[in-house]
Amino acid sequence: MKHLVSIDDLTKDEIHEIFVQTKKIKAFPFTYRLNREHTILSNLFYEPSTRTNSSFFTAMTKLGGKVLNINNVNYSSVSKGESLKDTIITMGNYCDVIALRSRTAGDALKASQVSTVPIINAGDGNGEHPTQTLLDLYTIWEKFNRIEDLTVTFVGDIENSRTIHSLDKALTNCNKHYRDTYNEEPWPKSDVYYLTRVQKERGSRGSYTMKKEHTNTMPEESIVLHPFPRNYEIAEWFDTDPRAKYFEQMKNGLYVRMALLIAYTQYK
Ligand code: NCD
Repeated sequence: MKHLVSIDDLTKDEIHEIFVQTKKIKAFPFTYRLNREHTILSNLFYEPSTRTNSSFFTAMTKLGGKVLNINNVNYSSVSKGESLKDTIITMGNYCDVIALRSRTAGDALKASQVSTVPIINAGDGNGEHPTQTLLDLYTIWEKFNRIEDLTVTFVGDIENSRTIHSLDKALTNCNKHYRDTYNEEPWPKSDVYYLTRVQKERGSRGSYTMKKEHTNTMPEESIVLHPFPRNYEIAEWFDTDPRAKYFEQMKNGLYVRMALLIAYTQYK
């Protein structure tokens, strides 16, 4: 059984296949409207989410499938003390694939070890967030036509951002720089600037804001990405800058997740 726990679970070729499929879906989404009829996704979310949860929901719905949404586990038997293992085994009886968001790094791996259906890690604590990485990579690929030989600067919560952890792993042949919130050094010239918020719920402290001085030295052809939600990192004045690609990035989340749901329910 195939699970997506870490971005390392996918080979370069598999990632490329997902891009090709995503591009087709993005161009003609309607063609896929019955692609996964009678297929059921369980959205099992132990942590808050807007984009990941909604885009998984919409992705399966646009493929003709259905969604069991447990996006507030407090209203499930988790509030009665049910373990992750028992919840995963239970949901495996009712659905064909599970998108799991959990509070603790390693939960997705544990779930994959007991699950009878594919587990897609939708973010596990400060561990990984491979589906976010795929949409980040897809957005980079759309712009540069490659995900190698690029200069990428990560800014923000390097330690606790699961989106950075997964993307960092995936960008193997790139020149990478890291600026955490306490690092005052100017940002180096890059193709991609990847900003994240400070994960206060995971004990991180501080905050930062991208300033005019930063944007003045960013190459015209560079792009600025952010997984969102944003706090103070990017002020709204930057939203209309052609380098601001974060709204396109979140839109790509839908098409990438449609491609993923097709790939992970092939042998259901
Ligand atoms: C991120 C997450 O949940 O890790 N959001 C998302 O999925 N788009 C980023 C964050 O919470 O900071």
